[in-house]
Amino acid sequence: MSAKHALYPGTFDPITNGHLDILERSLALFDTVTLAIAEGGRSTLLDHETRLQVAREAVRRVAGAGRCRVTGFNGLLVETVEKLGADVVVRGVRGSPDLEHEQPMAALNRSLHPGFEVILFFARPELAMISATLVRDVARCGGPVDPYVPPEAAAALRDRFRD
Ligand code: PNS
Repeated sequence: MSAKHALYPGTFDPITNGHLDILERSLALFDTVTLAIAEGGRSTLLDHETRLQVAREAVRRVAGAGRCRVTGFNGLLVETVEKLGADVVVRGVRGSPDLEHEQPMAALNRSLHPGFEVILFFARPELAMISATLVRDVARCGGPVDPYVPPEAAAALRDRFRD
């Protein structure tokens, strides 16, 4: 069987412990995983360069990190899948709202690119309450984010909200 390459796309604003768990589980199943950080689209709290830098440091914490690469992407996900020659896209789901979000996205991506495949990982229950959105809110209010994100992300959030 040929080496399998998975693409793990997202905004990663910032990367969380939930994301790192999905990455580690993906690395256990695939030969290589590219974590692809969307540049454009919605406005983000952390700029693209910071999100890339934080993720590059944070992914070193997971088992199999030597087979993971972090990159940015712009434009359509299916174009990046094609350009990088990825076999499959991986995404994490924490519950039914995530599933409802993923299903039409997968269907649209498949209609744009017939070979498109997505594999969904269910979040571990103990990590399922972590979302980058809630982490940003906690950070904005000056609360502790260390239980939910790797130290590099916590530091970036502290810098962002430093007076
Ligand atoms: O972490 P997120 O914010 O849920 O990630 C969403 C992301 C970046 C994976 C998604 O918005 C995406 O693929 N954007 C790239 C543009 C694109 O291809 N849009 C069509 C998807 S149906």
